[in-house]
Amino acid sequence: KLSIFKIAIDGPAASGKSTTSRYVAHRLGFMHIDSGAMYRAITLKALRQNIKFESHNGISHIINLAHNSSIQFATTKPIGSSGGDNAPQTMVYLDDEDVSADIRTMDVTRNVSFVAAIPEIRKVMLAKQRGYANSTNIDGVVMDGRDIGTVVLPDAQLKIFLTANANVRAMRRYEQLKLKDKKVVFEEILRDLEKRDKADLERKVSPLRKAIDAVVLDTTTLTLNEIVGKIIEMTNKLRNNAAQLSEVNS
Ligand code: CDP
Ligand code: CDP
Repeated sequence: KLSIFKIAIDGPAASGKSTTSRYVAHRLGFMHIDSGAMYRAITLKALRQNIKFESHNGISHIINLAHNSSIQFATTKPIGSSGGDNAPQTMVYLDDEDVSADIRTMDVTRNVSFVAAIPEIRKVMLAKQRGYANSTNIDGVVMDGRDIGTVVLPDAQLKIFLTANANVRAMRRYEQLKLKDKKVVFEEILRDLEKRDKADLERKVSPLRKAIDAVVLDTTTLTLNEIVGKIIEMTNKLRNNAAQLSEVNS
């Protein structure tokens, strides 16, 4: 059996990472791990327990939560979906509870970059992320986040860095959230996005950074289909090369 094929997808907020990863994983039969959802899940758990963020006690409490949480993923097609949206979904389970919707609220979004900047939290998540990527029963994994190509899976066979103009990203996120909540405000989303990008770029541990060997894809001008197509094509090429190499060597 060939080793697990790893695809790392990084980029700023709302650049299309999780949607792209979901489609790529679904088409290749790979597992999709949304690493941002993990930081969101821990943030949700802390908010539910009314932990005081930024206090010394609060931080050690959040670290404790991270050590004692189970986070699982499942990528499926929606069952009995009406309408034309046949997109695969990635469900997130926190301590066996489906929190896929709850981790996307503005409250979680506003606090997640703070939680993600705590070094000890990143250490705990890193171990979980590498654990998923090395599950023996899978052909491959698509993991998306901020530091996947640089820190979590530096040995990934394919690294992608997604970018897009901030206004375009904010508009896409706005359209996405408006489906669930009519009261969302575009300016607020744009402000959050820019604030989070700044925090993610400037933090000391594992900042958002393009790996030197990552392929940059700008989603401002490319459609989701085009991006997914390019990534599948690159993956197939790399897998064919690897298969030929192992034939030559055997
Ligand atoms: O979907 P969106 O781009 O808005 O965010 P996300 O991917 O769900 O990630 C939420 C937050 O988690 C980010 O703003 C980062 O602060 C943090 N994160 C991280 O620090 N490292 C990762 N590998 C993924 C996310
Ligand atoms: O995971 P991340 O925060 O990077 O972004 P996302 O949640 O996957 O994508 C944000 C929105 O942009 C979604 O509604 C996508 O369908 C949309 N999108 C797009 O319109 N064109 C692309 N090439 C990629 C994503």
